[in-house]
Amino acid sequence: MSELPNFDNFFDLSGKVALVTGGSRGLGLHTATVFLRAGAKTVFITARKAEGTQGINQAVDKSNALPGIKGKAIGIAANVAQEKEVQRLAQQVSDIEPKLHILVANAGATWGGPFETTPDWANQKVLDLNVRGVFNVVRSFTPLLEAAGTPQDPARVIVVSSTAGVNVPHVGEHGTIMYSASKAAAHHLARNLAVELGPRNITTNTVAPGFFPSKLANGLIEILGGEEDLKKTNPRGRLGLPEDIAGVMLFLASPVAGYM
Ligand SMILES: NC(=O)c1ccc[n+]([C@@H]2O[C@H](COP(=O)([O-])OP(=O)(O)OC[C@H]3O[C@@H](n4cnc5c(N)ncnc54)[C@H](OP(=O)(O)O)[C@@H]3O)[C@@H](O)[C@H]2O)c1
Repeated sequence: MSELPNFDNFFDLSGKVALVTGGSRGLGLHTATVFLRAGAKTVFITARKAEGTQGINQAVDKSNALPGIKGKAIGIAANVAQEKEVQRLAQQVSDIEPKLHILVANAGATWGGPFETTPDWANQKVLDLNVRGVFNVVRSFTPLLEAAGTPQDPARVIVVSSTAGVNVPHVGEHGTIMYSASKAAAHHLARNLAVELGPRNITTNTVAPGFFPSKLANGLIEILGGEEDLKKTNPRGRLGLPEDIAGVMLFLASPVAGYM
C-alpha cells in the first residue's frame, strides 16, 4: 500500500490567491470558476471591458453567486497588451493581496485572413497580447508570486497557448499564420520562464487547448463548417467543454502539481 498523505486535499485551493487574465468569459471564466469552487480565497478576474454582457462585472457577479464558495472574485479592468496597464494591474492587486499563488496568462487575440493582405496592425495586436503581454504580465507579478511560492508548494504560472502553437492549423483564405506563430512563441516563452523562475519557487506550465466554443473561436468554427463538421476532424469526435479546461487548470494549480 502507498500512504498518499493529504489525498483529501490533492485538489484543494483553500487560502490560494489567483489571477486570470481574460477571465470575463470563455476559457478564462471556466478557470476562475473552478478555482473558486476548489476553495480559492481570492480570484482576480481581469479583462479590458468592465461593463456589458461580456464584461468583468457580470463575471464577478456570477462567480460570487456560486453556491458553497468560501472565497470571492474581484474584478479589475486592464489591457494586458499594454505594459503600463499591466504595471497598474499588479499594483492594484498588491494593494489587496500581498501574495499571488496562481497566475493564469489566458487573454489572447486572433486574426484570420489571407497571407498577402494581412494588415500589419493585426499582426501587432496578436503579438502584443499573446507574446509581449504574457511576458509583461509574468514579469510584473513575479514579486507577488515569489512571495507566495515555497519549495513544497511553488507558485504557478499557467500560460494558455493553443494547439495552433504546435501545428499549422490554417493557411490560405482563413489563415491564422501570425496567431499560430504567436502561440508557438508563447510555448517557448513558457519554457524559458520555467527555467528562469523554477529556482524561485514558481513553476510555469503551458496549456494548449483545441477548439472550444467561445467568442474568440466561434467565427472560425463557423467558417470551417460549424461545430458538427469540426467535431469530425477531432480524434475524440467533439469540441472542448468547460470541464475539459477547468479540470486541467485545477490540476496545474493544485498542491499535487508542484513538480510539473
Ligand atoms: N476557444 C478556443 O477554441 C481556443 C483554442 C485554443 C486556444 N485558445 C486560447 O484561449 C485563450 C482564451 O480564449 P477564449 O476562446 O476563451 O476567448 P474569449 O472568450 O474571446 O475570451 C477572451 C478574453 O480575453 C480578454 N481580452 C482580450 N484582449 C485583451 C486585452 N488586450 N487585455 C486584457 N484582456 C483581454 C477578453 O475580454 P475583453 O475583450 O473585455 O478584454 C476575454 O475576457 C486565448 O489565449 C486563446 O488564444 C482558445
